[in-house]
Amino acid sequence: MRGLLSPSLMCADVLNLEHELTVLDNLGVEYIHLDFMDNHFVPNITLDTGLIKATKTVLRHMRRDIHIMAFHPEQYFDRMEIGEGDIVSVHYEACDNLEEVMADIRSRGASPFLAISPDTDADVIKDYFDIIDGVLVMTVYPGFAGRPIVPGSFEKLTAVRKLIDESGRDLLMEVDGHVSWDLCQRMRACGADIFVAGSSSLYQKGLDIVEAVEKMSELVK
Ligand code: DX5
Ligand code: ZN
Repeated sequence: MRGLLSPSLMCADVLNLEHELTVLDNLGVEYIHLDFMDNHFVPNITLDTGLIKATKTVLRHMRRDIHIMAFHPEQYFDRMEIGEGDIVSVHYEACDNLEEVMADIRSRGASPFLAISPDTDADVIKDYFDIIDGVLVMTVYPGFAGRPIVPGSFEKLTAVRKLIDESGRDLLMEVDGHVSWDLCQRMRACGADIFVAGSSSLYQKGLDIVEAVEKMSELVK
């Protein structure tokens, strides 16, 4: 499978989000990464549930890739109108009822992904292979754009990919955090399938988004 882009909307021009979404949608980008934060699991608030819900009225092709950095993420699913085609990533570190949460996501026709933060060992994912469709590997500490990559991230990506391959399951691995021009190919070589492209690449100041998407797509294909 070729590498797929998931541009991080929280890094786009937040005063022109409908335009930003439409440009990406028309380019045929596969996913749009929508970060939701509760100011408790992470000390920040970004895109709110109303905006995440409203994206459904704009998107024609792109699938929503919703990354919920919040405790009790299930409380937000209705407000986001989670449904067919969505990826929904919830954090291992934020949930003590992952079986129920993943079943809830799947009951809505969406794909449950397990997100793991940098300090969480790759091995924890093994217990969830039967109930998830993918793993979101955080290569920065979650909560803010523009953070540096955490040392050991490439080893983490390699370890997750190895565990997925050994399981024999067709799970996807998504990488989120400091997916930069110079590191994205190394992340691809570690086995990443979906690349969250934010302030470290597509949304760097002064870049033309159309050219940046074409360049990034080529680098991770
Ligand atoms: C951070 C978010 C990411 C972030 C990625 O917690 O999950 O989506 O925006 O952007 P950069 O490239 O700035 O790390
Ligand atoms: Zn994210």
